[in-house]
Amino acid sequence: MGRAIGIDLGTTNSCAAVIENNKPTIIMYRAGSYTIPSLFAIDEGGRELVGHEAKEQAALNPQDTVFAAKRMVGRDFHSPQVEKLRQLFTYDMMEGDQGEVIVKVKDKTFDLKEISAAILKKIRNVAEEYLDDQVTNAVITVPAYFNDRQRQAVRSAGKLAGLNVLRVLNEPTSAALAYGLGKNLRQRLAVYDLGGGTFDISIIEIRDKVFEVIASGGDTYLGGIDFDDRIIGHVIEAFGNEHGIDLSTDRIAIQRIREAAERAKITLSTTQQANIEVPFIARGPNGILNLEHVLARDQLEALVDDLVKRTVSACESIFKDAGLGPETIDEVLIVGGQSRMPLVLSRVKTYFQKEPCKGVHPDEAVAVGAAIMAHSLTSNMGEQVTLLDVLPMAIGIAKGDGSFLPLFPRNCPIPHGRKLTLTNSKDDQKSIMLRVFQGDEKLAADNELLGTFVFSGMRQGPRGSVRVQTWLNVDSEGILSVSAKDKDTEEPLDVKLKLRQQDLAPNLSIQTTTAGDDAPATRRTAPPPPSTEDTGPSAADSKSDSSPTPPAPTDDAKTSPARFGSIAGDDSDAPTPPPSEESPTAHATNKDEASDSTQESSPSSGVVSRASDQTDSAGPPAAPAETKVTPAEEPGCLSLLLPWNWFR
Ligand SMILES: Nc1ncnc2c1ncn2[C@@H]1O[C@H](COP(=O)(O)OP(=O)(O)OP(=O)(O)O)[C@@H](O)[C@H]1O
Ligand SMILES: [Mg+2]
Repeated sequence: MGRAIGIDLGTTNSCAAVIENNKPTIIMYRAGSYTIPSLFAIDEGGRELVGHEAKEQAALNPQDTVFAAKRMVGRDFHSPQVEKLRQLFTYDMMEGDQGEVIVKVKDKTFDLKEISAAILKKIRNVAEEYLDDQVTNAVITVPAYFNDRQRQAVRSAGKLAGLNVLRVLNEPTSAALAYGLGKNLRQRLAVYDLGGGTFDISIIEIRDKVFEVIASGGDTYLGGIDFDDRIIGHVIEAFGNEHGIDLSTDRIAIQRIREAAERAKITLSTTQQANIEVPFIARGPNGILNLEHVLARDQLEALVDDLVKRTVSACESIFKDAGLGPETIDEVLIVGGQSRMPLVLSRVKTYFQKEPCKGVHPDEAVAVGAAIMAHSLTSNMGEQVTLLDVLPMAIGIAKGDGSFLPLFPRNCPIPHGRKLTLTNSKDDQKSIMLRVFQGDEKLAADNELLGTFVFSGMRQGPRGSVRVQTWLNVDSEGILSVSAKDKDTEEPLDVKLKLRQQDLAPNLSIQTTTAGDDAPATRRTAPPPPSTEDTGPSAADSKSDSSPTPPAPTDDAKTSPARFGSIAGDDSDAPTPPPSEESPTAHATNKDEASDSTQESSPSSGVVSRASDQTDSAGPPAAPAETKVTPAEEPGCLSLLLPWNWFR
């Protein structure tokens, strides 16, 4: 078996680490450089470039240099956020078959998973060279605030890069691992991570080797790039006022200003004034013009004040969610390059009334935590770690009036299962559709459409007579899977996924009818680690339908998985065995096993995590499913039988 590494796949910089001789080591890319710019380009000669090589030519080749691809991963081309980025970014984007973003570089097109995969492949090659060994396994980190589709996309990218993705790990949790593992701590930690593209805030409790996320929040469209954009806008406006020339449509000029703006921003973290200089930026009536602008620190602070305030509001909101005050935090961990800005540091300090902890390297902590996790998952020597996470945004469905009905509330513990009973609302209805959204907006349509699940092959019968038992399960990585069976005959239903918004049937109505058989989300606690006494009830205590912990695997299910649907990408359409009535949450997604038979289905040692619980879960046998097909079906209506205690 090859080596296992941890990868922080960042919006602007990526970083990889490995455990050697029981110590984390950052994998060096170039002399003196421990991070790899997350850039992909094709140069004039048709060569594909990644990392520093891509960055070095970016200013001269902005149209064919893809940066910040992570910002659009798993997003719809027509989402307002992507529309905005299309105006700001210098490369071309198109809509893919599934409504996703495709980038055009030279005469080739790539989906964003392929761009991420190219970066991951580069990291893999660098690591192999550094280790003089094969690298096959990796833990890859994602922002805690990534939704299901984004997580799926990162998994797929890892696979495209030839990596067995042991686990998709949240960046703040990873930083907390780097900070706290092996210190026998009992602390409540706030992890404030302001990177190049995303902002994450998490409250994490550490009890020796148990890392429990209490709440997490953030903004996947808030990071250093937005700070740069403010400077770019300011400089372009000043140049326009002075010379009467609009640079906002000149891609090369924008890319060159972007680089100068970022340099000035970084300089201003240690000085009061910085020069932004870009020679030969435009041609004026009297010849070539240079851009020369002096930016003072207080000017920069005024330009980005609202962005920094947004991070503090996100902190306030998760503390409110958690019912905690900032004074209850023992340590504030600061990670992410943009958090080096003095204004950011002082606002964080004011909010928490505490000096931020300097215990970890802001650029490397996430990769180090991922390496620790990877090591734990693949070696007998690793520390026994228990990770307990929460869902960053609610997952739910649309009600008849278009409002959003969360099935999994924000910050509910994961893994987590939900059982729904759907009935046919027409005679002889052949299929039912369920649109699943993720987000915290009141209107379903304002949230991200994760996918439309189509349950087909229904038994024919009069209206109201056919009951479909559906399980929705969010695994420990925050990835959703869905399975269904006929409640009376126990026959599994075929569940397929549609991603495209345009395919949706209009006027799908959901009737909330009776009470039934579900239970509210309950905070779960860790599976009992060997020596910790206060980890709460064990998995065996989970009796409700929202039980976070699936039962143990059975062998036959591994060989004959039941039909299932997930919002999986191309590598995650794994079969999920529907559980029996008595064990409604037994339908875990066996992603690794199903997607790649060479992968280990679960970590064999070192880590007790819900990922391993989940991966190992199984149920009764049935035929395998193909989830990617978009069948022609008759959507019809659906009735949703909600349990009496649904809203509690
Ligand atoms: N000293 C500094 N002062 C201000 N900003 C800085 C400084 N150093 C780096 N940055 C900014 O930090 C950002 C990069 O941070 P980082 O490498 O943590 O992001 P990332 O991991 O690529 O992104 P993300 O975690 O959001 O996906 C860039 O926008 C960069 O300009
Ligand atoms: Mg980062």
